[in-house]
Parts: sequence; C-alpha cells; structure tokens
Amino acid sequence: MDYYGVIGNPVAHSKSPFIHERFAQLTQQELIYEKIECPIGQFKEKIEYLQSTYRPALFNSLNQNASLFKGCNVTIPFKQDAFNLATKHSPRALLAQACNTLKFEEGHIIADNTDGLGLIRDIEINAKFPIKGKKVLLLGAGGAAAGALGPLIEAMPLQITIANRTVAKAEHLCMTHTPLAKLHQVQLLASSINAVGDAYDLLINATASSLAGVQVPVNDSVLSPQALGYDMMYGPNAQAFLEWVELHGGIARDGLGMLVEQAAEAFYIWRGVRPDSARVLQEMRQKV
Ligand code: ATR
Repeated sequence: MDYYGVIGNPVAHSKSPFIHERFAQLTQQELIYEKIECPIGQFKEKIEYLQSTYRPALFNSLNQNASLFKGCNVTIPFKQDAFNLATKHSPRALLAQACNTLKFEEGHIIADNTDGLGLIRDIEINAKFPIKGKKVLLLGAGGAAAGALGPLIEAMPLQITIANRTVAKAEHLCMTHTPLAKLHQVQLLASSINAVGDAYDLLINATASSLAGVQVPVNDSVLSPQALGYDMMYGPNAQAFLEWVELHGGIARDGLGMLVEQAAEAFYIWRGVRPDSARVLQEMRQKV
C-alpha cells in the first residue's frame, strides 16, 4: 500500500488525514495517510528516514530508489525546507518560492504548491464568486500570500493590491509576479497596510494578524458593498476577521474550502484522479 502524510510541527491539529482518507474512499484508491511530526531543523533527515522505512522488500535489491512513501503535504514551518530539498519544481512552486506538496518519483523529489489553486477554486467554484474583472486586496506578503498570488493573477482580476506591514516584502512579491501580471493584463500594486485605498470587491487575509490576537489591520472602507472577505484560516483563528467583515456589510468566508481544495489538487498530483472535493467540504463543515 502507498504511504502519504502531512509533515509539520505542530501537526496534531491537522485535518488532512480525514480529507485524504475520504478522497481515497470516494475514488477507490488504496493508500495510507498520516500525520508526521518532524523535529524543527530535521526535515531532510525525516524524509530520508521515511523513504527508507517504506521500501518495498521485493524491489529493494533491484532499485535503490523504490519507496512506498510516495508523497507528502508540507505545513508550517517546513514549506521552505521542502522547496530547498526538492530536485524538481513545478512552475507554481518556483513562482511562490515555497512548496506544500512533495511527490517522490523515480529518484526525484518534486515540489509543487497547490495552496493558491485551492484558494481560487474555493472562491470561484464553491463560493461562486467570479474573480475576473474584480478589484482585489491581498493582505500579507509572507508564505501564504506568495502561494496565492500566481493563481490569483491567473484568475484575471482587474487589479491586485498587495498590502503588508513591511512594505518591502509586498514590493518584492509585486516585482517577482509582474511578468505574469503583464501576461494576464492585471494591474499589480504594492502598498503599505496603512494606505490601501477604498472599495475592494475581494479582500483576502493572508496575514498572521489573527494569530497574533490583534485587530484587522485595515480600515473597513476597504470593503465595497457585498465584498467577499476571505480568511485563509478557519476555526477560531479566523473568527475575528469573519465577524469584522460581516459587521461591515461584507460576505465572510473562512479557509476551510481552501484546505480541502488544495488537498484535492495534491491528491490529483499523486494519484491522477480528482476526488469530489465539494462533497468532502460539506462533510468537513458538519464536523468543524
Ligand atoms: P505565512 O507562511 O503564514 O504567510 P509568514 O511568512 O510569517 O507566515 O507571514 C506572516 C504575514 O502576516 C506577513 O505578511 C506579516 O507581516 P510582516 O511581513 O510585516 O511581518 C503578517 N503579520 C503578522 N502579524 C501581523 C500583525 N500583527 N499585523 C499585520 N500583519 C501581520
């Protein structure tokens, strides 16, 4: 049986095993998916250990690279380590300079990033909110924002403003994504979080401000009437942002759908089949 997992620290809270087990049941795939806690600073060693542990006995003498450990999701704080360890990178992982999905194949470690695609699928398909032609404010310029930006540009909004407490990081993201934005005729701007302007159709919170327990770091005038306010987090961590959005007349959505959709894309990368992610999201909503 093929073996997969989610590697992080901490990882005990992860809902990925439930999601992937349901995907496997719905697509009749036989696999094991587990939480893998990795000591900080030992990502490479952990991957090597798992690859050697799950080696098929029959092929071992014939192919030293054969392993039943076929891939993993990567979460905080190892997304950069995973990117650095990989021997091949998908274009979207390269653009984000971070990786949330590894696939082990023929001696290669292949890095991908499905976070942004998961976000866009949740907004456009599950929430039925078309991004094309819209004015978008992306709050934050860390790893989460970097993963989202490429697919967000490809959804062809009119304009994306990246706003961050540390402006230089927003400017850097803006610079690395300008060629893609030009290709899709999207106006890409970097801004200080204190001077973002007004009336955005879509506000995406990719900051860790709710984790830090501070207020939403922008003025409510950023929301146009009926704006969608999306937090990449879910559960209690997203609560303050979602309440703020609703209080100011917006439509609030948490990141649970993004979690399920990024998992569905990882599952597709590993297994070549697309699970019914909408059904699993519905099941998750009942659980959470
Ligand atoms: P992640 O991988 O979750 O994106 P990260 O790379 O550490 O984590 O990025 C965290 C983001 O949240 C950054 O954009 C950070 O802003 P800075 O680049 O200025 O540090 C943002 N952030 C964290 N705490 C914040 C706060 N209290 N107010 C506003 N932004 C905050």
